[in-house]
Amino acid sequence: MVATRPEPAVVDAPATNAEGHGQWNGARRLGPHLAPVVPDTRRLGGAFDVKEAGRRMVRYETVTFHVMRLLGGWLAKIPEFELKFEIGRHVWQDAQAAGALRQRTSELRVPADADRRAPVEVQRFLEALDEAATPLQFLVGIYRVAKPRLASAMQYHVVATDQVCDAPTVRTLKPLVAELGEQIRWGEAAVEALIGGEPARAAAAAAWQRQMEEILATAGGIVATGTPQPPEAPLTPEVAMRSIAELPGAKMPRSERLVVAARDARFYIDMSPRVLPEDDEPPELLELEEALANVRRSSGEPAEPEQRPVEGERGLPPPVRLGQRDDRFAMVHPAEQARRMVLRTADSSPGHPTPGDDWLEKSRRLMHAMMDNEMHAAELSGRNMYEFPRMPWQFHLDMARVVWDEIRHSEETYKHLVDLGGSPGMYPIVPGNFGYRIQLDLLHRLQDLHRRGELGGLSGLLKSRNTFREMGDETGAVMFDFIQADETRHVLFGNRWVKWLLHDDPEKLRALTEENEAMRKAHDGKIAALVKEALGGDGKAGEPKPAANGAAAGAAKKDDPTPVNVISLKIAGFTDEEIAELVQKGGGNAALE
Ligand SMILES: [Fe+2]
Ligand SMILES: [Fe+2]
Repeated sequence: MVATRPEPAVVDAPATNAEGHGQWNGARRLGPHLAPVVPDTRRLGGAFDVKEAGRRMVRYETVTFHVMRLLGGWLAKIPEFELKFEIGRHVWQDAQAAGALRQRTSELRVPADADRRAPVEVQRFLEALDEAATPLQFLVGIYRVAKPRLASAMQYHVVATDQVCDAPTVRTLKPLVAELGEQIRWGEAAVEALIGGEPARAAAAAAWQRQMEEILATAGGIVATGTPQPPEAPLTPEVAMRSIAELPGAKMPRSERLVVAARDARFYIDMSPRVLPEDDEPPELLELEEALANVRRSSGEPAEPEQRPVEGERGLPPPVRLGQRDDRFAMVHPAEQARRMVLRTADSSPGHPTPGDDWLEKSRRLMHAMMDNEMHAAELSGRNMYEFPRMPWQFHLDMARVVWDEIRHSEETYKHLVDLGGSPGMYPIVPGNFGYRIQLDLLHRLQDLHRRGELGGLSGLLKSRNTFREMGDETGAVMFDFIQADETRHVLFGNRWVKWLLHDDPEKLRALTEENEAMRKAHDGKIAALVKEALGGDGKAGEPKPAANGAAAGAAKKDDPTPVNVISLKIAGFTDEEIAELVQKGGGNAALE
């Protein structure tokens, strides 16, 4: 006989809400009826309604975004390489934070096109941060005042808002507060390192900090309400490519030369013959020679002010002319670099090995040049987000990503240089691509970096990867592989914004491409002539050719033609027609990978 097992008795289960909390005890019992589950003690009720929560979230977003732009703009003005790495990381962290905040504001009934500018009083504080005379002061303003006050305001919001109804805001803010805490701790360490235990510097830093705090206190704090800013011109590509020096409220009008550079490509051709081939003394080279004489070595020294007096008939120079480097680096004119690379064959001082022709030495030279050149791309992109505040939101996010990727490329090549027995500063460096591109308007900067330089590097980087792999340097090969993937996205950004600025006009795009090629050729030709002259006329005196612009393909073998990578071009936003043209231009050799 088979024993039947009784069915388990069905017990009436209490009704549960969507989150699983028993309801039968109503408000008296909010905990779970299942013993091991942590009771939910949150109660309804908070300090803000939707409108106030949204208003505050907009302010956090605006302040985060503004600080991100300032960090980008100051990257080129801060000499210490290690500070640049971390600041570049913070630029991207802040971009992501601003994105997360903006997303939540859209859920709190803030329209996408709402005016997000802070009131005049808070704006005054944001602008004062940028009036620092030295990078040290700037870092004090950001990491001892702006970010700590922002973190406090967010932390208050996390605790004070309705924990249930506004839970998405709590979830948005919590990780941002944690990340700000890490940034602030790093910033304090950086400030203390720059003060270096010197009482006078410590006192000056504290005085600047007090000044910033007073301005913010007068405004009423980060989330204060106040006088609305006057209305702005509606956003169009023409408005967006105006730099900060041209926007209403700028302290000094731009010179004709730089106003010209801020117009469209056609206008630029007409009005800038100074950089074309017939020019004997290209102004950008003269400016660089002068700037090199005043190069700074430490963040304790005054940075070039953003507003500079007009220099005679040439008008205003760019506010930042060099990507500053610390005292490990010797930054020299390209001709001087060539001379030193050759002359140093006799120099065997410690840490400065004799340049040779072996693979190890070639790799070290490439890593050193890339370490510097990748930083140039970060510094330029940081200037792009700083100098053009009216460019669309997504542009700033794209530039922030370029900044982070490029400081990482610089960091990767720095680390690999060390792997190969080298050290930063072992070779002279040049003002290079930053010195050249910073002279251009936004359109030409984007064209020359993303649609010429990086585009040209896409195939070369994969070739370098293969060469390093063949030579047994797998670490270097994998590094090139990742860099190429990052660069593909940068070319996409370049395509997106150059086309937007030109209203997607293919004729204007073609004209810009051709004009940029001609300008670049003229500039590079001029540099090559100076280098040739420095090496003794025929250019053969020094076989070790200086890697002036750090082209990644420099280490690649020169015999077989580099195949053009079609998949990368697709990801980078080129049409099939454009890809066919690029393959044709590259010698007809296409690769699918
Ligand atoms: Fe890069
Ligand atoms: Fe890049």
